[in-house]
Amino acid sequence: MKLKKYTRALILAWVAVLMASFACEALPTREPVTNAKEAILIVAFGTSVPEGEEAISAVTEAVKAANPGVEVRASYTSRIIMRKLAREQNKIIDEPAVALSRLAFEGYTDVAVLSTHMIPGAEYDDLKAVVDGFRMIGENAPKAGFRSIALSDPLMAAPGDFERMADAITATYEKEGKGEAVVLVGHGTHHFADSAYSALQMALWRKNPNFFIGTIEGIPAYDDVYPRLKASGARRVTLAPLMLVAGDHAHNDIAGSDEDSWKSMLESKGLKVTPILSGLGQNKYVQNLILDKLREARSSLTR
Ligand code: CO
Repeated sequence: MKLKKYTRALILAWVAVLMASFACEALPTREPVTNAKEAILIVAFGTSVPEGEEAISAVTEAVKAANPGVEVRASYTSRIIMRKLAREQNKIIDEPAVALSRLAFEGYTDVAVLSTHMIPGAEYDDLKAVVDGFRMIGENAPKAGFRSIALSDPLMAAPGDFERMADAITATYEKEGKGEAVVLVGHGTHHFADSAYSALQMALWRKNPNFFIGTIEGIPAYDDVYPRLKASGARRVTLAPLMLVAGDHAHNDIAGSDEDSWKSMLESKGLKVTPILSGLGQNKYVQNLILDKLREARSSLTR
């Protein structure tokens, strides 16, 4: 009788342990609310020129160094370039919408999108629309989107930016700016944000009259720059891209050997031209401006 009681108690205890272990396994593994995962998505137009890629890598490295422990990825917006890289170099790069979908799928909760654009032009407008789309997804279907998403401003988007950019440029070309002219050529656009280049020119002239801003597709154009350059009496010109990347435009339209490149046109006027073939992404001063913009964007993420 005594033994029977013991056995029954033993069996009951064993069943209880077994049930508890099953119950544990059956419970859904709930993610703790504090399981926040932050990521930074760098967005550039992209380039298929290997030397140009160095500028995007340089920005990526600077962002990683300044944000230890945060996932950092890069994406391009030019599908033509992404297809070319896939075809010729077997290199797969995501466009922002794909990169953001991937981050959401992998469980990232808070994402800062870093624009590396010079001005808030058409490329930036498109990126903003994608980010706004993901914000809407996050608000309406939290599982499919992010808890919070922020987009940084491009480099020249607010009044104070022109002075900061002018400081970065004059610091970079401190030596050249003393005795000779420094001409920086941006992309330029039909978009209203093209006016940023003229604003930058004014900010530069307040600091040093030897600095000139031009653009390939906008204003100031070559014909705006040359007469002023001539009037300055400069004989020697340092010619650099005002672009994140020294890619196709820098190698052809600015410093190329064709007669319609900026270099050739200036040389045909008897000027001694020294072309610089590195993008602003490789410039420490500009990297710091980009990191400031990123910090601003990250400060609006949910913590
Ligand atoms: Co272009």
